[in-house]
Amino acid sequence: MASSLRIPLLLFLILGLPTFYSASDGDVAEWLSWNVRKYRGRAALQAQAVVDWKLRRAEAKRVVKRVSQDGTGDYTSISAALDSIPLFNIGRVVLSIGPGIYREKIQVPVSLPFVTFLGDPANPPTITGNDTASVLGRGGKPLKTFQSATVAISARYFIAANIKFENTAPHEVGFVGGQAVALRISGTKAAFYNCSFIGAQDTLYDHKGLHYFNNCFIQGSVDFIFGYGRSLYENCYLNSVAKKVASLTAQKRTNASLESGFSFKNSTVSGSGLVYLGRAWGDYSRVVFSYSFMDNIVLPQGWSDWGDQRRDSRVFYGEYKCSGPGANTTGRVPWARTLTDEEAEPFLGTYFVDGDTWIVSP
Ligand SMILES: *[C@@H]1O[C@H](CO)[C@@H](O)[C@H](O)[C@H]1NC(C)=O
Ligand SMILES: *[C@@H]1O[C@H](CO)[C@@H](O)[C@H](O)[C@H]1NC(C)=O
Ligand SMILES: *[C@@H]1O[C@H](CO)[C@@H](O)[C@H](O)[C@H]1NC(C)=O
Ligand SMILES: *[C@@H]1O[C@H](CO)[C@@H](O)[C@H](O)[C@H]1NC(C)=O
Ligand SMILES: *[C@@H]1O[C@H](CO)[C@@H](O)[C@H](O)[C@H]1NC(C)=O
Repeated sequence: MASSLRIPLLLFLILGLPTFYSASDGDVAEWLSWNVRKYRGRAALQAQAVVDWKLRRAEAKRVVKRVSQDGTGDYTSISAALDSIPLFNIGRVVLSIGPGIYREKIQVPVSLPFVTFLGDPANPPTITGNDTASVLGRGGKPLKTFQSATVAISARYFIAANIKFENTAPHEVGFVGGQAVALRISGTKAAFYNCSFIGAQDTLYDHKGLHYFNNCFIQGSVDFIFGYGRSLYENCYLNSVAKKVASLTAQKRTNASLESGFSFKNSTVSGSGLVYLGRAWGDYSRVVFSYSFMDNIVLPQGWSDWGDQRRDSRVFYGEYKCSGPGANTTGRVPWARTLTDEEAEPFLGTYFVDGDTWIVSP
């Protein structure tokens, strides 16, 4: 392993690339060209990338536990199966989850890395709940958005495939405390394949870390993909159930040197209401849509600074080769960007989330 690492390290030193950016406040143009240079340098190393050793060890020690509501598996609930995993396990534990509706509030803590939820693509299980931010938890205090999640993942190296994550709390416009998260992902290096995320306000809390979503269906009304993760969404379907004006995303990059942002590639935006592609939760919010189809629900302005004009020069909202009636950039806010080939490139592959070292098939 030592020798396979030596070459990239050497290349890296020769190229002398900065690994982290700290520019003057809000100089987006400068950051953009730095980002392209960084991409080029790193791309040269990509061919050599290897899955990190902890993950390789975990995949080599893979075990499968069956969860089935009819009693034919090892466990009848997902929580019971999780409870059986030793703390700080070092091997991949696949929970093969049979069909059915699982009404469970699930947390995968930091102490349980390398867990996979695997459903059957022909009959995916649903994990459902209906907690909201204003529901009272233990001690009589409101749960808040963070604890409203039906499923909350804090562990590293989580994978889900063919699972439906749901929060059925209804969204009433104007009701305070109605945030109702279906899934919160706070652990880094997490991947989701063929999953559905169904909710209304704040469905998918893409809280923090590196994340990859492939072929997922994400439904909600307001800010339904939000947080400060660095995430690539490929081949996904964003279904708005908004009744009025809303925003699909609320990305919370708060600081010019944080590498956080959402990149949507080859995805579809459709549904009801009138939507912004994103609104700036953080001052340096960053979202890119590429090769995506946008239906006529997208507002011509495209993006919102959430009423704070200081953000106009700080956010990074880009579009690249999108199609459909909602992709017409004529009416866009002047601070939205149509990216050049060169500018778009760093957002278009698993490179964006350093995926070559941690994305493995489920
Ligand atoms: C995703 O769904 C497709 C179609 O059902 C299936 O062929 C594929 O194996 C699924 N992917 C995973 C990772 O299970
Ligand atoms: C949540 O679901 C439970 C169980 O189905 C139900 O009793 C409760 O009324 C629901 N709460 C809300 C706010 O919809
Ligand atoms: C784009 O996404 C669609 C829908 O998920 C998928 O069928 C298609 O293969 C994807 N195309 C590419 C080039 O990845
Ligand atoms: C930005 O975030 C980084 C990482 O958390 C931190 O080290 C840095 O001090 C922050 N900079 C500002 C201007 O807040
Ligand atoms: C984009 O929108 C503008 C203004 O509504 C319109 O004039 C133009 O024809 C549209 N372009 C396309 C390609 O539809």
